[in-house]
Amino acid sequence: MPADRAAKARSSAYVMNFASLGRKRSLVTGGAGFLGSHLCRRLLAAGREVVCVDNFFTSSKDNIELLLGSPGFELIRHDITLPLYVEVDEVFNLACPASPIHYQRDPVQTTKVSVLGAINMLGLAKRLKVRILQASTSEVYGDPEIHPQTEGYRGNTNPIGPRACYDEGKRCAETLFFDYHRQQNIQIRVARIFNTYGPGMNPQDGRVISNFVVQALLGEPITLFGSGNQTRSFCYVDDLIDGLIGLMAAPGTAVGPMNLGNPAEITIRGLAEKVLELTGSRSRIVFRPLPVDDPLQRCPDITLARTMLGWEPKTGLEQGLRGTIEYFDRLLSSIGRRLALDPPPILDASVKPAVGGRAMT
Ligand SMILES: NC(=O)c1ccc[n+]([C@@H]2O[C@H](COP(=O)([O-])OP(=O)(O)OC[C@H]3O[C@@H](n4cnc5c(N)ncnc54)[C@H](O)[C@@H]3O)[C@@H](O)[C@H]2O)c1
Repeated sequence: MPADRAAKARSSAYVMNFASLGRKRSLVTGGAGFLGSHLCRRLLAAGREVVCVDNFFTSSKDNIELLLGSPGFELIRHDITLPLYVEVDEVFNLACPASPIHYQRDPVQTTKVSVLGAINMLGLAKRLKVRILQASTSEVYGDPEIHPQTEGYRGNTNPIGPRACYDEGKRCAETLFFDYHRQQNIQIRVARIFNTYGPGMNPQDGRVISNFVVQALLGEPITLFGSGNQTRSFCYVDDLIDGLIGLMAAPGTAVGPMNLGNPAEITIRGLAEKVLELTGSRSRIVFRPLPVDDPLQRCPDITLARTMLGWEPKTGLEQGLRGTIEYFDRLLSSIGRRLALDPPPILDASVKPAVGGRAMT
């Protein structure tokens, strides 16, 4: 290379490195998953550098394909049950299979991801002296006896049931976060995330919105577990990501746990009917027995998030469902409509098969 070009290259490398010194670097574990990939995109758009760590247990590179060439985005294939050494300014810990069909596939691994993963990421945050956010879940409330659920409610979980690997794993992770906070002075944030949906969901993860939308678009029967009178509340992904970013940035006292979800409640039957209406599908509704420990009601009290973060969801269910239906319609056209019906391999016989009869969350 001629001397002047080499000097130019050296100086532009220097400028790039210098520029990156001013940019905050965020680690997102589970960054290739549904929520993680949205979070990576939003952080990059806000001018952060992003280190995405994932072992692709429930995802693929598809969700982050468009980010792979972006300056400031780095992907590391890694299992967070093993220690990780990277240099970052904050940690969003999202890695964990999140739908029953996925977390019941290898329940021991699920507990390990929550517990060993939390220990490893907290150890990293301790070494780097940086803030760390845990993606906890409304499942820590189990089948709740109070309604709506406030953060002070201690829950009604079953420590030995098929959902325990997830529910109790997440409860133990919260314990670890608060013990590291008290004992090691780590700056923590704990978000209790309620059902979230939107573009980027895996069509085969057995969650109720992805199941219903895919079934409706394919003209297959809509599978409804139980009577359909059980309720859920659904938060659109963009709103949830606003909440996670807001909680991470909130002042020191806002450690959580903090409910993040949409308090608008709907019966599962009402949801099925709404999906049928919006897709114009002629699918019929079929009823199946309720899976073990499936909660009958789920609705967040978001007073804490409203007062501490000024956060509340902005997207109504109909608007969010329209965007989600468009996404699944495009996806089914590209992957082939029949493929979406093929269930993924299931190792645990107690987990019902995919679309057409899968346990839901
Ligand atoms: N989506 C929701 O409605 C919801 C509700 C409550 C809580 N959460 C929590 O939010 C987080 C993200 O959920 P999601 O819906 O995006 O799920 P997801 O399954 O789409 O994403 C999880 C990601 O974590 C990765 N992962 C799993 N085990 C790992 C390991 N050992 N090491 C590294 N990566 C690993 C997966 O490959 C995947 O990319 C989870 O912790 C989940 O418990 C989600």
